[in-house]
Amino acid sequence: MCRVVRAIDWDSGAVVIIDQTLLPGRFSTVRLETVDELIGAIRRLAVRGAPALGAAGALGVALAAGRHGTETPEALATVRAEAGRLARARPTAVNLRHGVERALAVLEHGPEAVLADALAMLDTDERINRAASRHAADLLLRLCPGRRLRVLTHCNTGRLATVAWGTALGAIRHLHAEGRLEVVLADETRPLLQGSRLTAWELADEGIPYRVLPDSAAASAMARGMVDCVVVGADRIAANGDTANKIGTYGLAVVAARHDLPFVVVATESTVDRSVPDGAGIVVEERAPEEITHFAGTRVAPEGTAVFNPAFDVTPVALVTAVVTENGVLAEGRGQTP
Ligand code: MRU
Repeated sequence: MCRVVRAIDWDSGAVVIIDQTLLPGRFSTVRLETVDELIGAIRRLAVRGAPALGAAGALGVALAAGRHGTETPEALATVRAEAGRLARARPTAVNLRHGVERALAVLEHGPEAVLADALAMLDTDERINRAASRHAADLLLRLCPGRRLRVLTHCNTGRLATVAWGTALGAIRHLHAEGRLEVVLADETRPLLQGSRLTAWELADEGIPYRVLPDSAAASAMARGMVDCVVVGADRIAANGDTANKIGTYGLAVVAARHDLPFVVVATESTVDRSVPDGAGIVVEERAPEEITHFAGTRVAPEGTAVFNPAFDVTPVALVTAVVTENGVLAEGRGQTP
């Protein structure tokens, strides 16, 4: 069984995370005592997933406020500068920026107030994740009546990606608890393998039946009638419902539409960015070429190979059956919602 409940937490003046780069081989937590350490952990994906990054943003400001204080203009400026760098550590998941901004809004009340608000945010994360995933599970059951579901998912959207429960994987957990899940088809999620390393680890831990498949087999699985629906998370949702999520999500949506399969996005409201009218305004993070040219430390492409390595893609809402949050259906695309 998993030994801690939370992927990210606070303990005696430090942010404590499960180091996700070591899973599934080793379960280990790390104490992060400075904002620079936290930024490093975010950049190497030791802590990752949009809701967990939101918590990291708020806790990081608490860390900075605790270290530098908030009593002088100089101290406030230092905290704000660290908060700015933290907010920019990864550009796509808007939760990170939202978490930082939420914490900065109480900065003038002092470090204790910043920490109390960040901890309150962590406490509500599980409740809103459960609510969003409950709506999604109910929708999937309405869209696919009468059978135990074979659900395809991408990346990791479970308790590792949030504080405690999960979004798309949370919906899968609801379906399993109710005896309405046959199997999860978990995309391995190239290049960093969040599906095979993290989603499979979570599913195995909970005794939920699953198979891992290469990303390139997902279209074939749909064509062969092995999938009833696709459910994914989100890193940023534009005002019109266009959704940025892990690279490969757009392709899944195209293929799901081709096979008339429900494609449902599950997220919390903190992932919605109403300042961006549509997906064209979402910044997509490009990651290091070594993630592609090397595998587990071994070179797998010739020296000098040029690389295109976007961490995310944007799925137009027209390809999405529904975008679901804790408030219910936020946006509908291709009209399968009953
Ligand atoms: O690069 P990552 O691992 O942070 O990407 C994570 C995803 O794309 C998730 O699907 C998304 O953050 C939703 S997590 C509930």
